[in-house]
Amino acid sequence: MAMAMNPRVAGFLMQALSHEMSVVQQYLTQSHLCDLWGMVDHAAYFRRESAEELEHAGQLIRHMLSLGLTPNATQLAPARPGRDLREMLLLDRQLEVDAVRLYDEALRQAQRFRDDASGQLFAALLSDEQGHLNEIDRMLAELESKGKGT
Ligand SMILES: [Fe+2]
Ligand SMILES: [Fe+2]
Repeated sequence: MAMAMNPRVAGFLMQALSHEMSVVQQYLTQSHLCDLWGMVDHAAYFRRESAEELEHAGQLIRHMLSLGLTPNATQLAPARPGRDLREMLLLDRQLEVDAVRLYDEALRQAQRFRDDASGQLFAALLSDEQGHLNEIDRMLAELESKGKGT
């Protein structure tokens, strides 16, 4: 028989789904804004990010269904797209920092309650979010160096 779902871990799954759905909206909004501004490459970048976060939401939903949980994201954050590329990336950076923090804590709780399947999912998502954060930092550094005319 499957071990009873720990309510703290279930809470992290719900919080994670809310986060992923929120960043789908965030990145999709930024993608379409960049389109409007004629920034084709950045529109494509944000569209890829949005698709990746949607994939994360899907993985969480699959996992919740396998545990008999109803996907129940309730707290969609409003999009805060920013007024230029630098501001967009700074706002996104904070969301990715929040995601890293969320999955780090979720992973620890899953380990504490010996929920290996949830732990594996949280670990994979944590690693992806760290990748997103690194990519944003790389783009911000590139903007910075262009700004200085180097
Ligand atoms: Fe994500
Ligand atoms: Fe992310």
